[in-house]
Amino acid sequence: MNVKETLLLSAEQTEKAGEILRGGGLVAIPTETVYGLAASAFNEQAVANIYVAKGRPSDNPLIVHLADAKDMEACCLDIPEEAWLLAKTFWPGPLSMVLTKRPAIPSIVSGGLDSVAVRVPAHPVARAVIAAAGVPLAAPSANLSGSPSPTRAEHVISDLYGRIDAIVDGGPCAVGVESTVIDMRKKPFRLLRPGGISKEQLEEVLGPIEVDKAVTGSLSENEKPASPGMKYRHYAPKAPVLAVCGPGDASARYIASQIGENDGVICFTGREAAFGKARFVLPYGEESNDAALAHNIFDALRQMDKLSPEKIYIQCPDDRALGFAVANRIKKAAAFHVITVKPEESV
Ligand code: TXA
Ligand code: MG
Repeated sequence: MNVKETLLLSAEQTEKAGEILRGGGLVAIPTETVYGLAASAFNEQAVANIYVAKGRPSDNPLIVHLADAKDMEACCLDIPEEAWLLAKTFWPGPLSMVLTKRPAIPSIVSGGLDSVAVRVPAHPVARAVIAAAGVPLAAPSANLSGSPSPTRAEHVISDLYGRIDAIVDGGPCAVGVESTVIDMRKKPFRLLRPGGISKEQLEEVLGPIEVDKAVTGSLSENEKPASPGMKYRHYAPKAPVLAVCGPGDASARYIASQIGENDGVICFTGREAAFGKARFVLPYGEESNDAALAHNIFDALRQMDKLSPEKIYIQCPDDRALGFAVANRIKKAAAFHVITVKPEESV
């Protein structure tokens, strides 16, 4: 593809970003979860350009970002009562709902599916850009396909500079993992991707929901995932990754017993001393602080990748609250190479 001149915009230049989007351009914008690569959802050519800039497979659908919950009606059909209830409870915020697509949304947005995922982001800059553009914005994460999602403007610059029209710098993203994706088209409602709104929070409103198989394990060759994005290896550094689950003291001891001197560890803060032999040790938050782990995980994956270790071990949090999303991203980075270490026996 041709090299483009990429404008670097400040968080105040949202009018300029809106103008570029109205003209069919691509702009990376901060959201509360991760940076998104936005285009007008009604402009087929602009949306096609997103797939090219990211190197994204064309069957992997995009999330449409709305200014307001009532804009769901412009994009979706057969919206159930429960979707309005979730919108009222969690929007603006890190929740995407899959609903039946209106024909007005070009099929390229949803990778040819007859559904569409929508969300109202909470980040003030994202909201200002949507308002300035005056249209819903289709926006996947603003990384090259397969690399960790970008949670800082410099991550976007390193992946997409020269491939898109502009990048709006809004500083680091608060949440750090992507939105939760839930399919609202039939009951029981189904969690397709854990994210910034936890399963527990959703179940407080909806009662029990199902978790799609692709969330907890890799699908076999001929299985068709409900969310096409789940079938691709994601967030993956170059070195092989092993996700190590179980209590922090036990997983640290296991990693210390396995690790070679050219390997890296992404560990819970406070556990660094356990890995004396390892060259590359990156703490990413305390075991009990799932918000910190979410905030830092993608940056840690990118930093570790730059150090070129032979193998990467990652201490994985348990599946409670935001830990579910963090563990899912780590397991996907590990292509579901996961070891679960039992709690230490008390002495
Ligand atoms: O937090 C987020 O959701 C960020 C920010 C920018 O909003 N966006 C994001 O987009 O993570 P992306 O494209 O990286 O991930 C979207 C996920 C993919 O796994 C995709 O397969 C799924 O949502 N998805 C989108 N539309 C869908 C649909 N109609 N049916 C099922 N899954 C869908
Ligand atoms: Mg993505």
